[in-house]
Amino acid sequence: MTACLHPCRARWRDSVGSDPTSDDERETAMALSNAELQMLASHHQVELARRADDWRLGSSARPAGAGTAAATPDDAIVADGLRRVFRIGRNPLRPSREVVAVEDVSFRAPRGTVFGLLGPNGAGKTTTIKMLSTLLIPSGGRAWVGGRDVVRDDRAVRRQLGVLLGGDRGLYDKLSARDNLVYFGHLYGMTRASIERRADQLLELVNLRERSDDRVEGFSRGMKQRLHLAKALLHNPPVLVLDEPTIGLDPAAAVDLRRAIGNLVPQHTILLTTHDMNEADQLCREIAIINHGRIVAQGSPAELKERVADERRVIVSTDQPLNGRSEAIVDDLRHLSGVRAVEHELSVRGGSQLTILCADTASALDASLAAIRGSGIGVDQVRVVEPTLEDAFLAIAGGKLA
Ligand SMILES: Nc1ncnc2c1ncn2[C@@H]1O[C@H](COP(=O)(O)OP(=O)(O)OP(=O)(O)O)[C@@H](O)[C@H]1O
Ligand SMILES: [Mg+2]
Repeated sequence: MTACLHPCRARWRDSVGSDPTSDDERETAMALSNAELQMLASHHQVELARRADDWRLGSSARPAGAGTAAATPDDAIVADGLRRVFRIGRNPLRPSREVVAVEDVSFRAPRGTVFGLLGPNGAGKTTTIKMLSTLLIPSGGRAWVGGRDVVRDDRAVRRQLGVLLGGDRGLYDKLSARDNLVYFGHLYGMTRASIERRADQLLELVNLRERSDDRVEGFSRGMKQRLHLAKALLHNPPVLVLDEPTIGLDPAAAVDLRRAIGNLVPQHTILLTTHDMNEADQLCREIAIINHGRIVAQGSPAELKERVADERRVIVSTDQPLNGRSEAIVDDLRHLSGVRAVEHELSVRGGSQLTILCADTASALDASLAAIRGSGIGVDQVRVVEPTLEDAFLAIAGGKLA
């Protein structure tokens, strides 16, 4: 295993170089796994890079102002007014500009739950996660993981955290799945015997046991994601941060991974980002929706869906076209209280289909059935469609609500 330490140290040295102050270098450091960071954070250059990074951005991760509430024993993660600014443009002949990636993000993730951070591309999810994982210094605000401050007590935070950032970085292609885990286990200071035991359990958990001795370079994307999860769990951290864990997985692999994630609570607390709304609905107790760096809504999946309650749909199909009678029926239905819109189109089975957008599905259903029957036409199919988390997300992130 001694030989394995070389690529990591070399990458670190190469990434830090002689001037540890640029965002690029910081980003390269982020590409290192959290296990590597844990080992390497003791290196003084990390501290230098962090201080220089803070200083350059003109603010330090100072306590937020009024309303600051430190973590209670029930909170696994607390973010309080987190802010992060990036400087863009490294051409010395041109002025650089600053991008505010995260602005005043506050939330509490209770212990033993899955907390979802959802948002469109570029919303600031990964930046938030990196600040919570000690991989990026906040430009403002504070955060605690397991009661420890992510800036002042970063080493203690890293000991409690498993981070899955996914992708091709953070695994050694030339090593087998098992040797990757053994290698990172050594970085965590685990004993050989405990690494072996833990690697067996985790390879089983993520369904990689049969491929455990194959080199990672031959792994599919899904297999790499599962190995990333095993790696994040290696030191049995109470808190896991999973950034789009099921991205790029086929449906069966995603279901497997979701099941594995679901089985990790309540022993672990999970902070999850995903673009898959069904996944968020299924796994998360609480969700924060972030847009343009700010939290624009927060609540349980049911609470968020309730915000678009008037997007419930009653869909009634008839066994023959409504033809000349459709306008009068649609008009009547539009005037019912609580009905937002009514659409009429031909159904695939040759009849008509009425879609009624409403809050009170029972009255809309009664009224539409009565109107159709009153016109002497038979009903073919009836469906009531509840709003999904995707409907809520689109309405909130699209600015229609919140
Ligand atoms: N190292 C960096 N340097 C400059 N800008 C950055 C850097 N990292 C992130 N940003 C910017 O910060 C904003 C938020 O990015 P972030 O990666 O946090 O979004 P995200 O919500 O994770 O998006 P996605 O869903 O696409 O993963 C974006 O405008 C992005 O361009
Ligand atoms: Mg991201």
